[in-house]
Amino acid sequence: MRQTPQVWLRLGAVFGSSAAMIGVTKEDALATLGWLIDAGADEAILEEPVDRLSRATSPPAQRGIEPPRETSHNLRPSSPNVVQQAAEVSLSTAPGAARALASTCRTLSELKSALEAFDGGELKRGASKTVFGDGSPTAKIMLIGEAPGRDEDAQGIPFVGRAAKLLDQMIAAIGLDRTKVYITNVLPWRPPQNRDPSPEEAASLLPFLQRHIELINPEILILLGAVSARHVLGTSEGILRLRGKWDVYQTTSGDGLRSVPTLPTLHPAYLLRQPAAKRLAWRDLCSVAEKMEQLGLS
Ligand code: URA
Repeated sequence: MRQTPQVWLRLGAVFGSSAAMIGVTKEDALATLGWLIDAGADEAILEEPVDRLSRATSPPAQRGIEPPRETSHNLRPSSPNVVQQAAEVSLSTAPGAARALASTCRTLSELKSALEAFDGGELKRGASKTVFGDGSPTAKIMLIGEAPGRDEDAQGIPFVGRAAKLLDQMIAAIGLDRTKVYITNVLPWRPPQNRDPSPEEAASLLPFLQRHIELINPEILILLGAVSARHVLGTSEGILRLRGKWDVYQTTSGDGLRSVPTLPTLHPAYLLRQPAAKRLAWRDLCSVAEKMEQLGLS
């Protein structure tokens, strides 16, 4: 499979001398190389690695590598009003109430506090933590997964378990890491028996996810798996049909209504079960790399 030069430029950065500089260990670099080989990449186009990631040391036009205003682990305390208001809204209240609550949250910390105070019913009761988000709040690329698993529930951070390792390798293959993307899930709580959310639960939680996207204000959205694609795009189409096809997600930002290029792809947990599908995910990643290039994000 012949890959785009841009992708190999980034691979040069990941595997070349800059690997140590950006804190990639030899083991991580080899694991990412393993993922690429599994995905069917069999040819390097450039002989010399190009260190594109060194831009991280100069004042960037890219928000993704700016020092974050608020880090996902260091959110500023939010106003007591939001918490008080959240305590009066629950999964059984009409979605309109959840929408009104989510729209009053002006910062990520307020949104996180609102979710923590919100009565999430059975979905929340079985979880030990609200798993909110990880990565750079100023990232241009936002990934949305499905729901926390056991490890995420224990640590309160999305994608820290087995599927996360593969996800990290996937994003490393296009020159990204957790400091340059923002990751969240459709569900902030680990569902009992990892079940899918009911339509009512999904409808009540969607306004929080929509507000989350507004607050991050990404340039590219990547939807990991069927649940994410279904909820964000509001479609019932299967992921194997949706993946690899760019769609748009309408969001609002300070500048008004915006259309965000959105790519559904396969969930890393699915790829662990179906390794042969990695070649499809690799195509999708190449497509993201091209979109980043077009938008001047790489
Ligand atoms: N799978 C997801 O979709 N999200 C996580 O956070 C972990 C596994």
